[in-house]
Amino acid sequence: MKLSINIDHVATIRQARGEKDPDPVVAALLCEQVGADGIVCHLREDRRHIQDRDVFILRDKLKTKLDLEMGASEEIIKIALQVKPDLVTLVPEKREELTTEGGLNVELQREHLKKTIDRFHEQNIAVSLFIEPNKKVIEISKLIGSDMVELHTGIYANAITSQDKKNTLSSISESAIFANSLGLRVNAGHGLNYENILPIVKLKTIYEVSIGFSIMSRAIFVGLDKAVSEMLTIVKGIKI
Ligand code: PXP
Repeated sequence: MKLSINIDHVATIRQARGEKDPDPVVAALLCEQVGADGIVCHLREDRRHIQDRDVFILRDKLKTKLDLEMGASEEIIKIALQVKPDLVTLVPEKREELTTEGGLNVELQREHLKKTIDRFHEQNIAVSLFIEPNKKVIEISKLIGSDMVELHTGIYANAITSQDKKNTLSSISESAIFANSLGLRVNAGHGLNYENILPIVKLKTIYEVSIGFSIMSRAIFVGLDKAVSEMLTIVKGIKI
């Protein structure tokens, strides 16, 4: 399984003081050096953490893969078409949310999402849709031309009882098998941490996980290189 690391929260700390440090680009390069398979950042319309400059420099400096997470608004689409990331992950975006709260409503936004996917495909940019683990949503994602899906793991991560954990994990598992059967690559993310990642690794149907908050939180105490290598050890099932 591959691990892409979301560096938004390095930028959150930088923006708290409006300084140049800590630079999310430096964090991204360190994550790559330790063995991350890719870097994710979310350029939000409100620019609360990642800034336009970060995305352009990341595009230039990264040796692995840049996954640009974004809402499908015209302003951000235009920037993304200039940046040309390796992958665009479309997410729902609300100004008042603390973080992405759930998957896209692909049924309601079907036409707009299809047109957006087509625009990225014209520039040879692959597109993933961040969705709930639900067969109908997966089917629509395939029909509108998505190359892959990222299954929202937040409900699994927040489940409290062991029964809820089991149920939410099964729906991720069944959705991943279904998406794979339609030829969609399956990524997963949101709320994954050092405690809850192993059952996701064991599914064997998830191509890549996208993890940010837990790694950056741990990095405060043990350093970014150790925090990344500890997660890689679990995700890859090997000692780095
Ligand atoms: N995937 C998506 C689509 C997200 O919006 C986020 C949060 O920015 C993540 C993955 C990473 O979530 P977390 O920071 O909880 O690891």
